[in-house]
Amino acid sequence: MNSQISAASETLKARLETLENPRDIFKSPELKSLYDGIKSVPAEQRRDYGQAVNALKIELEQLVTAKEAAAETAALAPIDVTAPFDTNIAPGNRPTLIPTENGTVHPLMTELRRVIDIFTRMGFAAVESRQLDDDWNMFGALNFPEGHPARDGYDTFRTEEDLIPPAHTSTMQNRILKAGRDGLEKGTPIASISYGRVFRNEDVDATHEHTFYQVEGVYVSESASLADMLGTLQAFFETYYGQKLKIKTQPGYFPFVEPGLEFAIEKPAALGGKPGDWLEMLGCGMIHPNVLKAADIDPAKYRGFAWGGGLDRLVMLKYGIEDLRHFEAARLQFLRKF
Ligand code: PHE
Repeated sequence: MNSQISAASETLKARLETLENPRDIFKSPELKSLYDGIKSVPAEQRRDYGQAVNALKIELEQLVTAKEAAAETAALAPIDVTAPFDTNIAPGNRPTLIPTENGTVHPLMTELRRVIDIFTRMGFAAVESRQLDDDWNMFGALNFPEGHPARDGYDTFRTEEDLIPPAHTSTMQNRILKAGRDGLEKGTPIASISYGRVFRNEDVDATHEHTFYQVEGVYVSESASLADMLGTLQAFFETYYGQKLKIKTQPGYFPFVEPGLEFAIEKPAALGGKPGDWLEMLGCGMIHPNVLKAADIDPAKYRGFAWGGGLDRLVMLKYGIEDLRHFEAARLQFLRKF
């Protein structure tokens, strides 16, 4: 390379480090004189000279772009990408939602409010689950050993960054337990439900959706028992369906409860049921000691129960909806019935 060009190259690169706006480097007199200099270069060297100046300009352009990108990244406040969408925005800056006068509340949301209402009247707090979570909340904190086949049972989606659109609301258990730990030590039981949208990589049919809703409960105290749990659940279902119900349980396996149970209600006659028509509504059980330990709660001192099940199923039974796919289909004919 021409010595004038290499000298200019060194000077320009050194100056680039000192500029507040890196793009100002293109206004440097050295660059201008390199361009002007082309006239005085002997004809047979002109091509090489022109290419060298051009190469220098391209190199500077790359350096400037990299600096601009780095400055842009540095200016961004770090965010928690798994948090609900508005949590990362300062309260005063949160977007106002589009007015909804012309729409109606989705039937699942109407029913969700009823469910939340029943549990909050029983003394449970209610938190919405996240729609993006991580391996720890989906599996690790819930006593699923690394590589355990029970992990496969959840047909979890994963993003390229290895985040998980949660396959159950149990992803909130560790957060709820940790948040309630101090209160527990002061004698206040942990009593919280979590609710929200969950996702599974399933073949879709009348009873399976890739996107559905769950409601989960967590209760921890010094004396919580299975009987308390069954009483709580029966009271909930009887309030929701507005009638007395028969319930039964059978053993079920979930790594985060021990013992684990599947909870069923007898399909009410008023909803077209015959005696002996049992409907499995949710999974439940006593919280596994390892799950308490993962939240720094001493399993020798405290015990708890948890349950979790689909909202969609609850609503389908209530209204005699035969196909789960109606909920996500955005079909007005269906939605207007509610
Ligand atoms: N998370 C379980 C599921 O979706 C249900 C469950 C919740 C079971 C809490 C036990 C306790 O399959």
